[in-house]
Order: sequence, then C-alpha cells, then structure tokens
Amino acid sequence: MSAVLQVPTILDAPEQRFPLDLGVRIPKIRDLFHLATRNQWNPATDVPWDELDPEAYTEEQRRGARMYWSRRAWGEYGAISESPALQIRYCQEKHAPDMRLFFTIRSQEESRHAEVCYRMAERLGGYIEQPARTAFQGSVATHGVRKLALDPEVPLEGIIAALVCAAEEIAFDVFRHLIEITPNPVAKRVCKLVMRDEVRHCAFGWYFMNTRIKQLTPDQFERVRQAVITMIEKVELNGYHSAWLAPSNPASDSEIESDRITWEAGLGATVEELEKPVFVDSIARIRRQMKESWDMELPMFRHPKIAGEF
Ligand SMILES: [Fe+2]
Ligand SMILES: [Fe+2]
Repeated sequence: MSAVLQVPTILDAPEQRFPLDLGVRIPKIRDLFHLATRNQWNPATDVPWDELDPEAYTEEQRRGARMYWSRRAWGEYGAISESPALQIRYCQEKHAPDMRLFFTIRSQEESRHAEVCYRMAERLGGYIEQPARTAFQGSVATHGVRKLALDPEVPLEGIIAALVCAAEEIAFDVFRHLIEITPNPVAKRVCKLVMRDEVRHCAFGWYFMNTRIKQLTPDQFERVRQAVITMIEKVELNGYHSAWLAPSNPASDSEIESDRITWEAGLGATVEELEKPVFVDSIARIRRQMKESWDMELPMFRHPKIAGEF
C-alpha cells in the first residue's frame, strides 16, 4: 500500500466559531455588502431575451457565439468554485466580518454571471459543456485560486491582490469595452448587468488591501508582489481571459476564430486588434494604482503579440 502525502489545508485546522464578531470593521466593505443586496437582478427576467432572434444569424455565427458565451460561462464558473473557498478562508482565519458578509453575495453574483452566459448560449442554439479541444483547457480551466485559497502558506493578501486587483480589473475593462462595441441589445444588456456587479468585486479588493498593506512584513509584501506578477504573466498573458493571448495552437486558433465570428455578428466578443490597446491600458492602470496605493512596483511585461514592453 502506498501512502499519499497530504499537504495540510486550512480545512485541517479545527473551526473555532466563537466568540463570533459581526461588528463593522471595514465600513467601506460593509457598504458594498448593503449596496449589493439592493442591486440584485434576475438573469431570467432582466434581459430582453425575446429581442434576440437566433434566426437572424447564420449557422456559423450561431455556432461561434454559442462557443463564445459558453466559454464566458466556464470562466464565471471558475469564480463560483473559487469564491466559497475564499469564504472558508475568511471564516477560518476570522477576517473582518464585512468580508464574510460581502462574499456570500459575491458568490451569488458569480452564479448569476454563469447563468446569464449559459442562457445566452442556449438562446443561440445550445450551451457547449467543454472546450472543443482539451489542449485549450490549460488556458481556460483554472487560475489555481481555489487551491491557493485553502493553502495556509499562501498569504491571503497575495491571492486578493492577484485575483481581484489584477485579474478582475482586467476582466472589468474588457466588459466596459464590450459594452462600447457590441451592437446587439441583448448581448450588450448582459455585459452591462455583469459589469454592474464587477465594479463592487473590484472595489472590495482595493478596500481590503488598503487595510492590510501597511501591516505586511517586507517578505509578505514581496510575496504579494510576486503573486500579482504570476497572475499577469502565467494566467492573463497565457490567454485566461483572451484567446488571442494564448500560445498559438489549433485549439486557441479555433477559439480566436469563434471570437471573430461572434464579434462580426455583433453578438459580443472582441478581437485582437481592438482588445490589445484595452489590455495594455489595463496593465498600465493596474501598475499605476498599485504604485500609488501600495507603493508597489510592477515590472514591465512582454508578449509575442504585443510590440515592445507594456
Ligand atoms: Fe463574474
Ligand atoms: Fe467578479
């Protein structure tokens, strides 16, 4: 019999719920929680689904858009699986009660995002349950946050800085861009509803980090910085959000193709030439904000499809 070496996770520590502090510790995050509870929406009824006429598009356009919206649903599903893992972390480590309350709604919002993308794909002819080629799963399947969230060795600040202040900020900018360029009113409405929630998700990250950054030791601070760099270099620049950034292979090429078909049909999605300046601006904005708010320096990045450093 072979023994499997188990790395302890935070789930191995006993739960100590009491004394249970539910006081306001980070007022701005408590406000986000209240704001979120007032801004709930329903994917079934808050989108004018009848205005989307699948018959108005060719078979190829419908197939491309089904793939695009299915892929968006897979990305949102990633958040559904990571959000509760973070929630457990907040409870186990007794982080500010405001964070624990806010994240219950955050998980719900990610579920709504997954559902609304799923419905969009269904309306267009059918949700697709997995990538056409498994090679692409390396880019879209995970950014590893669920595992990190349960690892007591990884500082929570590093996870939030990377996941929220970098990755969710990038996603937010793409949504804003999609709203600007998408003519179809149903696709545009979906993007607007998702973006409305993402504003709060991003704000949460900065509010939390602002309470923590001064408390970090130089070693922890450097680990947070490395976590952000890893998220940008190994996840974002590997095509996690945008297929054209993924290493070129038949799998990512077919994703890029379906994005282009979807964009040409006006059903959402964007293309390399339009998204590139948005992405470069996002990185510059994140770098600037981390410098101003945390005095953290991010290096310049490179990617074969982007000229020079950014
Ligand atoms: Fe989301
Ligand atoms: Fe989010």
